[in-house]
Amino acid sequence: MADESLTITDNRTQKTYTVPIEKGTVRAMDLRQIKTGPDDFGLMTYDPAFMNTASCKSAITYLDGDAGILRYRGYPIEQLAENCTFLEVAYLLLHGELPTETELEKWNSEIMYHSLIHENVKSFMGGFHYDAHPMGILMSTVAALATFYPESRNIHDPASRRLQTVRLVGKMPTLAAFAYRHRLGMPYIYPDPDLGYTRNYMNMLWKRTEPKYAANDVLARALEVLFILHADHEQNCSTSTMRAVGSSTADPYATAAAAIAALSGPLHGGANEEVLHMLHLIGEKQNIPAYIQSVKDGKHKLMGFGHRVYKNYDPRARIIKQVASEVFEVTGRNPKIDIALELEKIALSDEYFIKRKLYPNVDFYSGIIYEAMGFNPDQFTVLFGIPRTVGWLAQWQEMLQDPEQKIARPRQVYIGPDSRDFVPMWQRGKTQTVNA
Ligand code: ACO
Repeated sequence: MADESLTITDNRTQKTYTVPIEKGTVRAMDLRQIKTGPDDFGLMTYDPAFMNTASCKSAITYLDGDAGILRYRGYPIEQLAENCTFLEVAYLLLHGELPTETELEKWNSEIMYHSLIHENVKSFMGGFHYDAHPMGILMSTVAALATFYPESRNIHDPASRRLQTVRLVGKMPTLAAFAYRHRLGMPYIYPDPDLGYTRNYMNMLWKRTEPKYAANDVLARALEVLFILHADHEQNCSTSTMRAVGSSTADPYATAAAAIAALSGPLHGGANEEVLHMLHLIGEKQNIPAYIQSVKDGKHKLMGFGHRVYKNYDPRARIIKQVASEVFEVTGRNPKIDIALELEKIALSDEYFIKRKLYPNVDFYSGIIYEAMGFNPDQFTVLFGIPRTVGWLAQWQEMLQDPEQKIARPRQVYIGPDSRDFVPMWQRGKTQTVNA
């Protein structure tokens, strides 16, 4: 067998070092021994935006960006999307194995039992302005849950961790639905555990004066599949935030609120909302070439395209495309799909996108489906956040139980001024150039 090690020669000192290679990685701390002298701090790696740094070992999600593969706990995403309910996948992600029938039944009722929220959360939510962005409401109310469950600080107690986990997974749809109805000025609909996770969510969103709201089967299944596809995606921006904030041993609600904040950014989960705005802006197929040209001229990005890890087609986008056609059978075709398909066709044959390996990501088609189902664009990222909470919590638990993990604290390369003496105000002159 080949020697699993790396030999490095430091040309500054002519010294040679051998460091082990484990699972295709070298430990950054092994480089610290490489010094020019006893006073030298030792060699570090410099990796802005973590382009080539593994921050943890994880057994949750496997992703091969070049091959377009995504698996949860070893199971291909395509098989899970076809055969499972969302809560079944949630169980898999959080426990490591698919549930038996009895386990799933218990899990479903446990999660649904925790779908109710404290009445005070409701009044707290009532304080938001009528047009507050739902992600802002979700982020704040999730953080506020910590004040309702102060025992959640016991993050080293497995029973407490489990309780907060089922609470968060159970309450997310309720918080999201209340945020939605708050905006419309509609009365809140309380959870109905008998309906199950997604149908209950749809009921809380859309029930009006009818005695019983009946979710359409195709739409309910579409939402279930979309939730499965969004449940985890290894060390993305919001999950890394969950791990980083959680590593300070903050409670899970504050930690999840931080992850929601990361998700809200347009380069991450907020992209689905931006895609819709972009398609609206393009308006007609005939405007596409000019829009593509403006992207290539660097005026803006083609939202919903590109991914840090996938340099081949995002497997989730392929499934979503299929879901879209099923949804349109019920809702009628969303005309934005034609613009999206044409954009994809042109982009995939254009040298600019081919060279940079830019393909549609999960956000490119999801918004078109959500819009057809009746969601406003500002709800789209919330629809991402509900299922991703499961992934965040699975990764948070894994991080807390990993003996190698400590508080996340990267190093920096200092490029500021050397030591200099304080200048009194009267000697500083009238104007100064300051980098804000
Ligand atoms: N449109 C046009 N050009 C793009 C796009 C895009 N969507 N994405 C990347 N590029 C270009 C960059 O300008 C860069 O070009 P250059 O080499 O000439 O400078 C090159 O492709 C490489 O891009 P990076 O920004 O270095 O890639 P990175 O891995 O840092 O970014 C990201 C990935 C943030 C997803 C990026 O592709 C992007 O901004 N996409 C649009 C937003 C989006 O859809 N985000 C959702 C991602 S999926 C998710 O989070 C759920």
